[in-house]
Amino acid sequence: MGNKQQNMPDPVRVDNPALEQGVRETAVKLRRMGQDDPLHFWAEMSRDVAWYRDWNKVLDQSEAPFYRWYLGGRLNASYNCVDRHVDGWRRNKAAIIFEGERGDSRVLTYQDLYREVNKLASGLQKLGVKRGDVVTIYMPMIPEAVVAMLACARLGAPHSVVFGGFSSDALRERIRDARSRFVITADGSLRRGKSVPLKQNVDVALQGGSSPVEKVIVTRRTGEAVSMEVGRDIWYEDVLAQGELYCEPEVMDAEDALFILYSSGTTGKPKGILHTTGGYMVGVHTTYKYTFDHREEDIYWCTADIGWITGHSYIVYGPLSNGATTVLYEGSPDYPAQDRFWSIIEKYRVSIFYTAPTAVRLFMKWGEQWPAAHDLSSLRLLGSVGEPINPEVWLWYYKHIGGERCPVMDTWWQTETGMFLVTPLPGDESFVPGAAMRPFPGVDVDVLNEQGEPVKAGEQGYLVVKKPWPAMFRTLYNDPERYLNTYWRQYEGLYLAGDGAKKEADGTIWVIGRIDDVLNVSGHRIGTAEIESVLVEHEAVAEAAVIGKKHEIKGQSVAAFVTLKEGCSGTEELVTELKRLVVSRIGALARPEEIFFSAELPKTRSGKIMRRLLRDIAEGNIIGDTTTLMDPQVITNIKEKYGSMAG
Ligand code: WT7
Repeated sequence: MGNKQQNMPDPVRVDNPALEQGVRETAVKLRRMGQDDPLHFWAEMSRDVAWYRDWNKVLDQSEAPFYRWYLGGRLNASYNCVDRHVDGWRRNKAAIIFEGERGDSRVLTYQDLYREVNKLASGLQKLGVKRGDVVTIYMPMIPEAVVAMLACARLGAPHSVVFGGFSSDALRERIRDARSRFVITADGSLRRGKSVPLKQNVDVALQGGSSPVEKVIVTRRTGEAVSMEVGRDIWYEDVLAQGELYCEPEVMDAEDALFILYSSGTTGKPKGILHTTGGYMVGVHTTYKYTFDHREEDIYWCTADIGWITGHSYIVYGPLSNGATTVLYEGSPDYPAQDRFWSIIEKYRVSIFYTAPTAVRLFMKWGEQWPAAHDLSSLRLLGSVGEPINPEVWLWYYKHIGGERCPVMDTWWQTETGMFLVTPLPGDESFVPGAAMRPFPGVDVDVLNEQGEPVKAGEQGYLVVKKPWPAMFRTLYNDPERYLNTYWRQYEGLYLAGDGAKKEADGTIWVIGRIDDVLNVSGHRIGTAEIESVLVEHEAVAEAAVIGKKHEIKGQSVAAFVTLKEGCSGTEELVTELKRLVVSRIGALARPEEIFFSAELPKTRSGKIMRRLLRDIAEGNIIGDTTTLMDPQVITNIKEKYGSMAG
């Protein structure tokens, strides 16, 4: 195993403070159903989704692991999220409560959302967007972003949302890979009172010949001047103005693509994770409904960005398909002050709050006086996602945010899984702080050793999923071979998640963290290879090895070990230049916190860089096994030099 066993305190158990008879019965019933007959369970769950035509087979395994769900079924995701709510009383219910960073606020009822989605879909259609076209969305956290996603879904045009924090280079790469002819963006986005020039980034991304992009749709957010290229760029409001009040949703096959979302892997090239319509909608609808014990009167807030899978599944498709009210916050948690989140919860009387451990650690650091100054009594349920939550952080969250009234759902899942796979349920009797607990009903996971046997209780191994699940990704866009190699070839017929985990005798699952060369920085996934390939682009750099170093708030921070070419020296200026290069190629989220120059890097006899030894040095651990090193002296030298720098 690449990862060392983490030091965990003896697990405590916390009794569910809000256990209700009905919710308890639901959890027991679902777990039993899921266990007895998972396919029957998923067949039952599919009834909650609106189909134009019923499916005739739940799961087709004939081309496994290219699984197909709900064969023959026809539906539209935007119909499910919008149309089906406007026939009854829900038309007047808030679908989206938007809070701008500056304190401006907008509420869109389901009727409002219906109108906007229809008009935009129709306007896009007139611009030439049709079924099967990939539309890239590069937008701030504003209602227009949700409208854009749903309008694409309505037209059967898969969206590819690119996180607004990515640089123009990263955007260009994703646009090209997806051969996207349309981009929807904004003039800019607001962050900590400053603006980020999204449109300008798009302009740069489209420079140079051979860009597939024909039209760029631009909404206004910051109001700053942007250049509009005649014939290519068009204002969002003009597209809306051309749109009809009603745009017939495309009747999609269950297995037609709903979206692509790029995510980092172990090579320099991001993976286009492809999700389809039927299984995804059933999966996110069901997991949202039961994991968050969805109630009509809830005000639900997920703090993720729509640029990540969490935003797709649990800001847009899951909640809206359930007819929930979802809060969309544009900005950062410390603007204008460190109590911004708590003032939002107080302002809208949020009842379900879903955030990341990295954020909770930040809140802990800022101090409990910030939440204590606000009325958080509306909260009834909490959620956590993105990385393991340390037990002490879980307990702080439970106490200072949840007031010891709210169960905490620690949801383990991935961009690939589309939906929660391991999570407690609000009907469970107790929780173990720090553990993601148990598979969602109908989901089958296990922890295996190298030989493919289940690990003994308490031992660490690889997290695998043993049976297909409806919201699973179907392939990697344009790269089925990589899909097979990355996920399905380690253990025949099982999905390899890439995480290390432990399983207790009672079935409690602890997810420990990535076991591949993928970092988790503030809950964002970044491949070490992506950063390394940027660093070696620099003329002074011969070789680079990137590692994740334990970080109090971010979970991991990026540290780079770099060897320079003959005659080059590791100056402060070079450090600054290299950091800047990474930011411009990928985005600020990948900026190395530390760059360390070394004459050599530790390698095995076959020439593979041993990153785990570098991590041991950076974290001050006892250096792990060095017997496979070509030259053990290298590691001694680095350790000495690193120690003297740090000291
Ligand atoms: C990786 C997936 C799923 C949405 C956010 C990240 C880590 C995620 C948990 C959790 C422990 C977690 C895993 C996973 N992770 N949730 N509750 N406990 N680890 O999506 O970028 O696809 O990253 O995030 O390492 O493999 P992603």
